[in-house]
Amino acid sequence: MSETPQKRLYIKTYGCQMNVYDSERMADVLRPLGYGVVDDPEGADLVVLNTCHIREKATEKVYSELGYIKQMKGRKAQAGGKMTIAVAGCVAQAEGKEIMHRQPAVDLVVGPQAYHQLPELIARAHRATGERLSADFAADEKFDALPAERQVNGVTAFLTVQEGCDKFCTFCVVPYTRGGEWSRPPEAIEDEARRLADQGVREVTLLGQNVNAYDGGGHTLAKLVRRLARIPGLDRIRYTTSHPRDMGEDLIAAHGELPQLMPYLHLPVQAGSDKILKAMNRDHTAESYVRLVEKIRAARPDIAMSGDFIVGFPGERDGDFDKTLELVREVGFASAFSFKYSRRPGTPASAMPGQVDEAVKAERLDRLNALLDAQQKAFNALQVGKVLPVLFEKKGRNPGQIVGRSPYLQAVHAVGPDSLLGQIVPVRIESSAKMSLGGVLENQSLLESA
Ligand code: 5AD
Ligand code: SF4
Repeated sequence: MSETPQKRLYIKTYGCQMNVYDSERMADVLRPLGYGVVDDPEGADLVVLNTCHIREKATEKVYSELGYIKQMKGRKAQAGGKMTIAVAGCVAQAEGKEIMHRQPAVDLVVGPQAYHQLPELIARAHRATGERLSADFAADEKFDALPAERQVNGVTAFLTVQEGCDKFCTFCVVPYTRGGEWSRPPEAIEDEARRLADQGVREVTLLGQNVNAYDGGGHTLAKLVRRLARIPGLDRIRYTTSHPRDMGEDLIAAHGELPQLMPYLHLPVQAGSDKILKAMNRDHTAESYVRLVEKIRAARPDIAMSGDFIVGFPGERDGDFDKTLELVREVGFASAFSFKYSRRPGTPASAMPGQVDEAVKAERLDRLNALLDAQQKAFNALQVGKVLPVLFEKKGRNPGQIVGRSPYLQAVHAVGPDSLLGQIVPVRIESSAKMSLGGVLENQSLLESA
């Protein structure tokens, strides 16, 4: 009796968590065809680059990676094998066939809404005839056609509930690459969440480019979260990324009421100058953002705030940038992501006057990061001496060590037995750094179960 030989699938994921989710789902679609995921592209039968188009650097990285993969494809061909190269994700959506012109080694290009068509596309690419491009926008078809079964490894999982964006911030490509806002039906999400919980997942992160704009036939995100909070075993719920203009009263209230909803909120503000926010088409002011955070903190005082920032947007003067620093000081962020403005062809901001010099952008980014780093360290230091419930996820680097997450999404290291993986355990925090906390199990008898 001979087993079907496993075909080797290598997927490299760039960019946001929605891509991480999509990569897992691509592996799910391909598994029944005999593809097993490997962690080295050398010799793989199928290489998928799941790409990000948000900033210029992200796009360029994809092309340079394709250069390496092309050489591997050549080596495999010399050895008599065949490697298929697929480009997926937002670069695929945005550049389409252009990718094949720029890198002829690419066999197929598949946009974010067409992953369910991968098996067919691969079969066609193997025959090397016909249309080698698929990049449509029908998100509903995608989710209906993906297999219900997911292979999860671990106790945390992403779950996409919403895709696309109608906000058209003037710097951003997402409305063009991911299409308009679209929400999955709550029944399908609940079904997926139950299956995850049955497989031992304790924490889900609900994903969407505008997750708090979720609108599932009368279900707001708050209502969806309440529904999922009833699933036995699902002890922690997070969601990302939110837009300030969609932060509904019911969602704010849920943060005060639902113990499953974790006290961490990624709520990008982008800048602190109203002039710049207006030019970005953000539809909020610095003041309205600060008031919003106050309201959220009134519901959940300990919530860890996280944000995205862009420095050097066209027309940003020193005085405008100072207002970003002011806003950061006023809000206090537990974590943040900050970027130099990157000119994206086709977006309104790319044609705006007053493009900022790269050196000025770099200098502003350094100053902003220095402030944000100090705030992150201070937030982490605040936890020292507290006992936090930690969901242990994996073994640590040092022997005997296990690593998990606090409710505030901080990584927490402790000495403990592997039997605690998948459990939420009280940990007394003893040390803090910028990226993580260290602690000891509050209940030392748990150590003896090792
Ligand atoms: N330049 C720099 N940063 C950008 N972002 C989106 N588009 C751009 C751009 N053109 C950032 C925003 C967004 C995050 C995902 O990426 O801060 O919130
Ligand atoms: Fe891009 Fe703005 Fe939409 Fe976020 S809200 S995805 S930054 S357009």
